Amino acid sequence: MRVLLIGSGGREHALAAALIEDPQLEALHVAPGNPGIAAIAICHAIDTDDNAAVVALAQQLEIDLVVIGPEKPLVNGLADELRSAKIACFGPSAAAAQLEGSKDFAKQVMADAGVPTAKSFTCTNQAEVEHALDAFGAPYVVKHDGLAAGKGVVVTNDRAEALVHALLAPRVVIEEFLDGPEVSLFGISDGINIVAMQPAQDFKRAYDGDHGLNTGGMGAYSPLPWAPADIVEETLVKVLQPTIAEMNARSTPFVGLLYAGLALTSKGLRVIEFNARFGDPETEVLLPRLRTPLAQLLYKAATGALAGEKLEWSSDAAVTVVLASEGYPESPKTGEPITGVDRSHIIEGTYIFHAGTTMRDGILHSSGGRVLTVTGLGKDLTQARSKAYEVISGITLRGSHYRKDIALAASTNAPQSGEK
Ligand code: AMP
Ligand code: GLY
Repeated sequence: MRVLLIGSGGREHALAAALIEDPQLEALHVAPGNPGIAAIAICHAIDTDDNAAVVALAQQLEIDLVVIGPEKPLVNGLADELRSAKIACFGPSAAAAQLEGSKDFAKQVMADAGVPTAKSFTCTNQAEVEHALDAFGAPYVVKHDGLAAGKGVVVTNDRAEALVHALLAPRVVIEEFLDGPEVSLFGISDGINIVAMQPAQDFKRAYDGDHGLNTGGMGAYSPLPWAPADIVEETLVKVLQPTIAEMNARSTPFVGLLYAGLALTSKGLRVIEFNARFGDPETEVLLPRLRTPLAQLLYKAATGALAGEKLEWSSDAAVTVVLASEGYPESPKTGEPITGVDRSHIIEGTYIFHAGTTMRDGILHSSGGRVLTVTGLGKDLTQARSKAYEVISGITLRGSHYRKDIALAASTNAPQSGEK
């Protein structure tokens, strides 16, 4: 099988690393990729916002399957154009990607499908906003309706701050605050069938103890020793299957990765958000644990052949820790040299996944806020943590920071503290 993967982050590096392990893979091409991916696949420097350019590349390379990593090309309709050109694609149509692209749309689908989620109002003017804020009270949760690259959601006790954030966007969803730990649970769907992956948890705040601003994710781990034993089955039955059925009933089947961000509240499981693609950095802990050959799995999803599919997992635990640039997330400083990235080769059961790196004059430099992520595998979370931290502590990047408490509480079987 000849695969073209779209994207350039740590998630795509983890996808690439798993795809090349599939015995049926003949060639892996990536657009645009990054220096880490370039070490294991053939990278193509094209503009992946240009759907026609991606279709042309796939045709020229005689690609059997395109796997789309990030949300932007999905919302831009890349999957639709590939399917029109008769190229199998793992990734939802623009219409189905609205599950991530519009919070209001996701709420409507959940309401129609009977999926448990926070009560909410969709507001388009100040009077509606104020009414919604006062209906729920503090803590206030305000979400911009459209794609916002992680900056669209504010959770605050300050009504004035909530109001200001709400008035920044033409349409917002204001919803009840959900307490309890957060879990990320992904399903792989062919539009009719959906297969659940194992749960993971990510750490959204910049600093230890869940302090600092929200980020794209500072680390993750899987499995979750503290989670209810039936969480996968419950999410499948209450969330993933009804959502896939509802999308199908609307004639916009969802083919790809359905990401359910869950809160395990005192009243039961609730969906916080949907995404239409693999989560980052959760993918960097899930895929190193997945034993099922990934290219074949995603090809089955892309071609409507997932019925009866069961996933196989290693019994290892995985922990990933993100190395972030100085000033991330407010104003990341980039262009600094990075050393020590060869160390994962000498410590078994560790991986370095590049995210914001670039090669300049043969030397690796930082080029983004989240620079790379180090995954450690071990017999339990304690061992996985110690491997990930051993490698990351040997990497140097001036001014960089990383959290020291990823999976720390979970390694003693307790859920993480806040996760908010
Ligand atoms: P989202 O982009 O919807 O995932 O929101 C980003 C983060 O905001 C989530 O991971 C949660 O930590 C937090 N959040 C979102 N919605 C709620 C909610 N209803 N109650 C509490 N926290 C929330
Ligand atoms: N881990 C959060 C996300 O991928 O959106």
